[in-house]
Amino acid sequence: MNLIKKTLLANLITLLLLAVPVHAFDSDNGKALHNENCVRCHDDSMYTREDRKTKSYSLLRERVVQCEIMTELIWFEEEIDDVTAYLNESFYHFNLEK
Ligand code: HEC
Repeated sequence: MNLIKKTLLANLITLLLLAVPVHAFDSDNGKALHNENCVRCHDDSMYTREDRKTKSYSLLRERVVQCEIMTELIWFEEEIDDVTAYLNESFYHFNLEK
């Protein structure tokens, strides 16, 4: 392989790496999905009630899945992640590092 080809290949690889999103959760999409599908049984006060049951990010995601199944939605993993991210940013504020 000559030098020009090598340089072109290296540039291409760099571009491909840059195109991969670092943080994929879209909480705006989550909010839209939530407001469209999830306020039939409970409103936002469910997430801020004093004795709320959800104690961690992973439990929050599990709860979203349970309610999603109960609502007979068939969401993609990304949609579950987006709604979980929205609820966490707006109400729960769990630290994702833990
Ligand atoms: C069929 C009615 C129903 C629908 C629709 C519904 N939920 Fe729920 N949800 C419940 C009930 C009932 C509880 C309370 C369960 C409990 O107290 O253990 C709950 C609890 C929750 C909690 C936990 C609250 C806490 O204590 O921290 C979250 C989060 C939640 N729902 C998210 C969602 C999301 C996201 C959707 C849309 C996909 C949704 N719910 C749709 C009935 C519903």
